[in-house]
Amino acid sequence: MEFAGSHVLSVGQFERPDVEAVFAVADRMEPYARRRRVTRVLEGAILGSMFFEPSTRTRVSFGSAFNLLGGEVRETTGFENSAIAKGESLYDTARVLSGYSDVIAMRHPAEGSVAEFASASRVPVINGGDGSNEHPTQALLDLYTIRSELAAQQRGIDGLRIAMVGDLRFGRTVHSLCRLLGLFSDVRVTLVSPVELRMPGEIVDALRSAGHRVVESDALEEGIADVDILYSTRLQEERFASPEEAALYRGRFRLNQQVYTRHCDPNTVIMHPLPRDSREAARELDEDLNDNPKLAIFRQTDNGVLVRMALFALILDVADQVDAHSRDVHWYTGGRNP
Ligand code: NCD
Repeated sequence: MEFAGSHVLSVGQFERPDVEAVFAVADRMEPYARRRRVTRVLEGAILGSMFFEPSTRTRVSFGSAFNLLGGEVRETTGFENSAIAKGESLYDTARVLSGYSDVIAMRHPAEGSVAEFASASRVPVINGGDGSNEHPTQALLDLYTIRSELAAQQRGIDGLRIAMVGDLRFGRTVHSLCRLLGLFSDVRVTLVSPVELRMPGEIVDALRSAGHRVVESDALEEGIADVDILYSTRLQEERFASPEEAALYRGRFRLNQQVYTRHCDPNTVIMHPLPRDSREAARELDEDLNDNPKLAIFRQTDNGVLVRMALFALILDVADQVDAHSRDVHWYTGGRNP
């Protein structure tokens, strides 16, 4: 894949060496994300950040990643604050906004909308989530996290055993992650969901035709035994026709310390794209796991900055210049650097 000037719309664009290239640059971003060094390599560049669906970590980590490379961020959040509320098309919005930015990160509730926007944009566009379709940067940061968690056990991604639990029908993070896992070998994917919320058939078929083992189940306890990674997801309530329909599934699979101790191998790493639903009726990932050293959810969010920095550096073709534009940090960073 040629990164310079490319859109990032789907994980389908990536071959294995491309993923490895992103991860190699992400590794080199660590001193900047940890505030040991500062770089100004993107000084003068502007990120257009356009989030038309609720977002905290994706939006802020895209912005932080761009700031950490020395660039500036212009944000639009919500339809109500945008001319789209006056009937402006995605085409016109893309033509206009791409005149103000060097790269755009966008989230939108409609599947395919970010690709449509990108086709009219004069600058690279990164998909921050399009409806229940894809979330490629989340899948990259998830895989980067899996890679580093397994490296601590002297293992690689090939041979991975992963369970994905929850709303696999509407969850775009698991859609993108499964597609990306297709690039590796000998992966076993256990998909635990209510029957009505199963992973889309074409994604399961693609995994199988790549030679991977896929097990579909609606039983949490047996699905999470004997895996390296347990990836929990939130019920995507906003994608259901009514709250009553969502209520049929709310709280169906709850992972807490007791379930973990009883059913999981002690090395099993717990992941979740966040936000986890902490309301009483949901709690798919209980806060009583917060002190469990295998809970990797905040390592995932930290890794998101590294991976997004890497993507910006590659797309804007400055990956090899980051260090040349850098210096040491001179302010207090004690809390961040253990
Ligand atoms: C996810 C999303 O927006 O798809 N969040 C995220 O970007 N980390 C998952 C979710 O909302 O449940």
